[in-house]
Amino acid sequence: MKDFANQVSSAASTLLHSGYAVIRTGPLLKMVLDDVFDGADAFFARGLAEKTRYARPEILEGYRGYGAEFSGSVDRPDLNETFSLVLRNMIRPEVADWARTNPLRRALAAAAPIYAELADAILDDLRRHFAPEGDRIASAKFSYLQLNYYRPGREERELLQDAHEDGHLLTFVTSRQPGLEFEVDGRFEPARLAPDEILVMPGGILSLMTGGAMAPLVHRVRKAPDLPRRASLMFFVNADVMAPPRPWRPMADGSCPDIRQATIESSQMFGLASIGALAE
Ligand SMILES: [Fe+2]
Repeated sequence: MKDFANQVSSAASTLLHSGYAVIRTGPLLKMVLDDVFDGADAFFARGLAEKTRYARPEILEGYRGYGAEFSGSVDRPDLNETFSLVLRNMIRPEVADWARTNPLRRALAAAAPIYAELADAILDDLRRHFAPEGDRIASAKFSYLQLNYYRPGREERELLQDAHEDGHLLTFVTSRQPGLEFEVDGRFEPARLAPDEILVMPGGILSLMTGGAMAPLVHRVRKAPDLPRRASLMFFVNADVMAPPRPWRPMADGSCPDIRQATIESSQMFGLASIGALAE
């Protein structure tokens, strides 16, 4: 437990000072991630008809086909297939049942509560920095895991995903193949993550929570030539849109953004169904 607390406080202070943080997973999460990536290789090798059996795009759940999402503009889709698990959907029996026949789904369900605990703890450390009396954030409903699966060797484009910032509070991202780059001082650098490391990036909503004090980290995915496949796992951290937090600090002009509305609008920016649909 001490390790966990140390990881959290060092991630929060590194986020504040450097604009991003890298955390090292413990043995439990490392094992779960091994299962996620093994499950992803097996799942994405299945035929399209088989994969679409696990698709519920209207609630952001399960499989989405190649190019369904975009980062910069709609005519340059992300060159990947994806599979998501939304924490709030875990109580739906029809999607919980997928775990019986889908090891990727099973592994994501094991990973989700670990990520939510980590996210809540880091956000709580940030809250103490900005507003000790401020609203706590509960990430365990509207946050989601997303596995992006690329086949770089088949692609013509240099950028498999264009530069963008995420419309969430935080994004936790890990991959065991190269390609991820993020922007520091106007230049893109390769992320170079070890297999047990996770990059934590602030998103646009955290910027609104902190009166602009924390800037979103811009990132993109570059093609590594001759790489047959590339899998990355993201945990996109959203506040509860049914009980949204008030910003910890007002913006420079004194305004206080509506976090619920901003979260819903951001979720629709990249071609996906609205996170608001999950509240119904
Ligand atoms: Fe992103």
